[in-house]
Amino acid sequence: MTTMRKRTPISAEGRLGRANDHPGRYDPEYRRRRDTLAARAENHPVGAPYADVAYTEDEDRTWRTVHDALAPAHRAHACRAVLEAGADTDVGAERVPQHAEVSVGLRARTGFALTLAGGVVSNERFLGSMEHGYFHAVQFVRHPAVPLYTPEPDVLHDVFGHGMHLSSPRIAELYRVIGRAANRVRTPEALDTLSRVYWYTLEFGLVTESGGPKAFGAGLLSSYGEIAAHEGREVRELDMCDAASTQYRISSYQPVLFAARSFSHLEDAIGAFCAEFDDDTGNRLGLPALPRDRG
Ligand code: TRP
Ligand code: FE
Repeated sequence: MTTMRKRTPISAEGRLGRANDHPGRYDPEYRRRRDTLAARAENHPVGAPYADVAYTEDEDRTWRTVHDALAPAHRAHACRAVLEAGADTDVGAERVPQHAEVSVGLRARTGFALTLAGGVVSNERFLGSMEHGYFHAVQFVRHPAVPLYTPEPDVLHDVFGHGMHLSSPRIAELYRVIGRAANRVRTPEALDTLSRVYWYTLEFGLVTESGGPKAFGAGLLSSYGEIAAHEGREVRELDMCDAASTQYRISSYQPVLFAARSFSHLEDAIGAFCAEFDDDTGNRLGLPALPRDRG
């Protein structure tokens, strides 16, 4: 496996990411902890080793709360590909797992490993690393006051949501396919377009099964609050041009979701779009020029 050692700076986020209604906003102790763990990622090269975290009793409790709530929610709302992947995952319910131990399991199953992030990472680095089997993940834990939905990705989202995906060879391959397309392009516009494809499939995608949409995306799988979010929300059938030209928001519930007709449809749609993807795709497909996606 190639080890990428690229020193791209983590994109400078406002503290607490882009959310201005973060539950930790007025909790200085939480902010200190979150920012300390985030700061470890500064100048961290993709794939380089990094230290474990001594999680506190409170952080382990938050993990248990969310984990316990998500188990039945997955049984009710997750699609089959995810449930099968979950059966192969050995992330425990009791305490926050260390990235290193999660990576050992992922490497054995799909060749993937986690690499350290401190928050939202540039599209180029985030998507490009996926071709080489690296997935950016943070170490900090969501605020305990609102455990069932957090406005910025935390260790639970990354390790539980994406970790479940990356335990499955078929799902992990979709990450590599998008990563390969990302490394083929140069322009920020093309990377933005690809980030929307990533967003509406791997992050927030639905798959229709037995008549209804089921949760596939990692952002749904880690959020008890959003996992059934298609109820009462606009769900469109997955169309890559439509998804690639629909803006998203990082720090709120998604107003629009896309549902693939089946998991194979999802694979085919991502595969076909990414096989041809280059810097000229936007022009060729007549995709609108959109402002950058923001929180
Ligand atoms: N809402 C997600 C959760 O509770 C975390 C999250 C916030 C997120 N913004 C995101 C996940 C953007 C993916 C993408 O787990
Ligand atoms: Fe994510």
